[in-house]
Parts: sequence; C-alpha cells; structure tokens
Amino acid sequence: MKKLRSQDWFGGTGKNAMMYRSWMKAQGFTDDAFDGRPVIGICNTWSELTPCNAHLRDLAERVRRGVLEAGGFPVEFPVTSLGESNIRPTAMLLRNLAAMDVEESIRGNPMDGVILLVGCDKTTPALLMGAASCDLPTLVVSGGPMLSGRHEGELIGSGTAVWRYHAEVKAGTRSLDSFLSAEQAMSRSVGTCNTMGTASTMASMVEALGIALPGNAAIPAVDARRSKHAQMAGRRIVEMVREDLRPSQVMTKASFENAIRVNAAIGGSTNAVIHLIAIAGRVGVDLSLADWDAQGRGVPTIVNLQPAGAFLMEDFYYAGGVPAVIRSLLDQGQFDGSARSVTGLTMAEAYVEAANHNTEVIRPHENPLVTEGGIAVLRGNLAPDGAVLKPSAATPSLMVHTGRAVVFEDFSDYHARIDDPDLDVDETCVLVLKMCGPRGFPGMAEVGNMALPQKVLQKGFTDMVRVSDARMSGTAFGTVVLHSAPEAAAGGPIALVRNGDMITLNVPERQLHLHVTDAELAARRAEWIAPEVPQEGYLRLFSGSVMQADKGCDFDFLVGRRGTPTPKHSH
Ligand code: FES
Repeated sequence: MKKLRSQDWFGGTGKNAMMYRSWMKAQGFTDDAFDGRPVIGICNTWSELTPCNAHLRDLAERVRRGVLEAGGFPVEFPVTSLGESNIRPTAMLLRNLAAMDVEESIRGNPMDGVILLVGCDKTTPALLMGAASCDLPTLVVSGGPMLSGRHEGELIGSGTAVWRYHAEVKAGTRSLDSFLSAEQAMSRSVGTCNTMGTASTMASMVEALGIALPGNAAIPAVDARRSKHAQMAGRRIVEMVREDLRPSQVMTKASFENAIRVNAAIGGSTNAVIHLIAIAGRVGVDLSLADWDAQGRGVPTIVNLQPAGAFLMEDFYYAGGVPAVIRSLLDQGQFDGSARSVTGLTMAEAYVEAANHNTEVIRPHENPLVTEGGIAVLRGNLAPDGAVLKPSAATPSLMVHTGRAVVFEDFSDYHARIDDPDLDVDETCVLVLKMCGPRGFPGMAEVGNMALPQKVLQKGFTDMVRVSDARMSGTAFGTVVLHSAPEAAAGGPIALVRNGDMITLNVPERQLHLHVTDAELAARRAEWIAPEVPQEGYLRLFSGSVMQADKGCDFDFLVGRRGTPTPKHSH
C-alpha cells in the first residue's frame, strides 16, 4: 500500500507531526491511531433542522464500529446540513456552498478515505460533488426512508399527500381537519421522505452509480439492517483505501448512463437530472440532457411508488429495492453490468443474487407502470437549451396539447392572482411561471408544480399543462414542464411569453413551441429589461457563477476534479 496521505500530518518525529498528534490526543485517542492506519473521515450532515437526517449521529457510530473492525481510524466531522423542509428560500441555493464546504474539509484535513452520511435531498449531491472533486476513496451511506404513513385508512406519502390534500381542500372535497390530521400521520419516524421523491431518488442514484453498497437506497431509516449497512460500509471503506479505489474509477460515463436508466425504472425525480449532471462534471464525465433523453428512452417505469404509483419506500425495500430493479434491467440488457462498484466487484457481480419479492411493487418488465419512463427532454423556441418533463407523473391525455398561455411574471405574482375569480383561465390553458430559475429566484425554487386555479379544481380537473424555469419536488406530479433553459432571468425566451400566446407541448416529438414569430420575439426582447444582479453576500457569488439547469447548476469554477494535493503547513 502506498504511503497514506494522513501520514503527511501524523507520521514521523518532527515538530509538526508531534503537534498534529498532540492536539488530536486531547480527545483521548491512543498512540496506535496514528501509526499509519487509514484515517477515515465520517462526513456527517446530522442536524435537528434537517429532520430527515436526525438519526445520522447514531449511524455514524455504526460506521465508526466498522472502520475500527477493519483496522482504520475513524474521525467524524460535520458539514453544512441542508434540510429541504426548513431552509428558505430553497435548499438548492446552498447546494454548491455545501459542496465547497465538503471539498475543502476533505482536502484540508488528514484523511485517506471518506464516508458520506447523507439523506435529505440536497445533502446527497452536495457531499458527492465535493468528495468527487477531491477523488479520495469515497463511499456513500444514505440515512434511509421514513416508515410508511397511514391516514384515514390509506397509505400516505411525504409531500405527495400534501400536494394532493391541499388541492382537495381548495376544491372543497376534503375538510381542513382531515388535511391537518395528516400532519403527524405522514411523518412516523426519522428518515427521508418515504415516497420516490428526490431523496429516495438520489439514494437510488448513488446505488446505481456503484458509489454505495447494494441495498443503500431503501432500507428504512429505523430498521436494524440500516445500522448493519452502515457498519459494513465502515469496514469496506478501509479496504477501499488499501486498494486506492477512487470515485473517478467507479463513476464513469457507463455508470451515469446506468443511473439514468435506473431513474427511469424507478420513476425518479426530475431533480436527479440536475444533480447527476453536476456530479458528473466533478469527475470529468461529460453528461448532458441529450444523454438523459437517449438513455432513458425505452426504459419502462416498473417501480409502483408514489408519486407516480401507489406504494412507499418501505414496501419497495421489502420487494427487493434497487437491487431488484438493477437485476431486472440487467436481464433486459438495459444496464451495463461491467461498470465498477465500491464493493470491488462489477455491478453484475454485486447484484447477481438480487430478487423481486413483490411484483405489485416492482412490476415485471412486460407489465410496467408506465411504458416510457425516462425523463423527456423537450426543445423548441421556448427552451432552446432544453426543458424536462417526467412522463410517469404526467397525464397521458395532456402529452400533446396546445393551449393559451396564462402568464405569471414571478412567484409572488402567481400567489397574488392564481385564485382570483376574475383570472381569465380554464383547464385548457397553459400556466407559465417565470423568474424561478437558478438566478431568478435565486436558487431555483421547487414551484414548477404550481397548484391549479381554484375555479379549475372546483370543476373537477386535477391537471393542466404548466411551464416554468423552476424545479419540482420529487414528491410532486402533473404535466409539468420544468427547468426551461435559458431561464427568464438570463433572458431566455420564457421571459418573453405574454398572456394569450399559444404554446404547444408535444412530448412524443419532444417539442415545446411558442407560437410567436421570430420577429415578434425580437421586438419583445428589445423591450426586455434584465433583472438586477445581487451585489452583496453569498447571493453575489451565487448569481455570478451558477450555471443554467441544463449544465447542472454547479458554479462554473467548481466543475472538475482537483484531487487532494496536500496543503502546506501553516506553522
Ligand atoms: Fe428531507 Fe424530503 S424533506 S427528504
């Protein structure tokens, strides 16, 4: 085994080594902790303000046990924790900041490998982006989903129930009491949202990428097997350091293509599009929207989970979880089994024993939930750099639709007018929401699934075509065109749409067309006034550096693998 990087701090008899060891010994560590054994960082996103990750200190203890068993020296450290449910204006505003925290914490400290303890939506991509830029041996351990919720006799899923119940209250078909009593029923335990929302999608993505151990995505947060999984990860990361197995060797183009196909099969969140592109950029893999469209085509959604389907993550685990999905894709020739895994095996070897135990939850390939499960990438004069739509969450009859635009200039405008009885709107219209992209909001809000006007809901309609430069919660659903790029704040064509314009959505043809002539658009552009860019604080860095949705919303200066050149001594 080559000399460990941690020995640059702790090895030898010099002044600096003595000093580094001495301060660490203040915690009571024994001499042999510094004798050249792999130092494993346990990068923790525990926080009471991130309820989905509230159990990660317990899980860190299990990782620690595994590291010690394998002869490593575990050191836990905190990084920025992004709690989707609490952080305003949106946790996405801080994803790159957290990634910077992670990257510099790893590079600046004496560690040889790292376990990433993640859970809530942004914690997974943020930590993996930062660690990927460092490219030390890395293994992701997700916190796992909450237990299933039940309310008034039905299975209710995190987020999904909120959107649906709220629409029913607005439509007058559900009482306020019923809505509020779902509050506790929906959240029975710590853990991430129990639907196939963004957190569960990203936990599935890391498993599909091979950067987590098999079974990572679906073991419930409070199941004893989650603890065991963390302990096994602790053992394995020590071996990975000895093998010098790095993220850049695991997360290749083939791995990302596999992940895209798994996303289609699980009916995963549209947020995965942005996060995977950003993670790929950190390891030097060129991943584009075109890859998302090409790789996801022809892959059916077989996982019957909310929001697209009926069940929840706990059911998914009992049915076989991501291993059963990968097995199904392998059997269909839709998964590259030669891709590497942190296990040291190929993915085909690592998943050879996976089985499907419940074909209602994980449907057979020939009887899928949705035939075309991939993310549809739309283009046209309304989104020249692309927009996305999740067919499995959309209404089939709206997949080809032309309607009159009802435009909201920003989210405040939407809030002020959506339920105005005088709003000129019906169910055939296309709702357009501007200024919710990465720079416009800023941070790219999850508001693309904007609730329908009350008067449309009261007529019994539950879906309309909606177009925005926003994102959508992975727990949400609807015929919703998202991530329109360039965004309105960057002068994208969506900024030029006006009330009454006709818009055509054609998902089979992958088109999003604004029926306005080029000359008229040019005239409108001449009148368009660019919004002011924040000049102070973090918002200045963010607005000046964030890339558009089709590029993963990373900061332009963070793309790429910088490795871990050992920093100089400062004393
Ligand atoms: Fe944290 Fe859903 S709010 S996983």
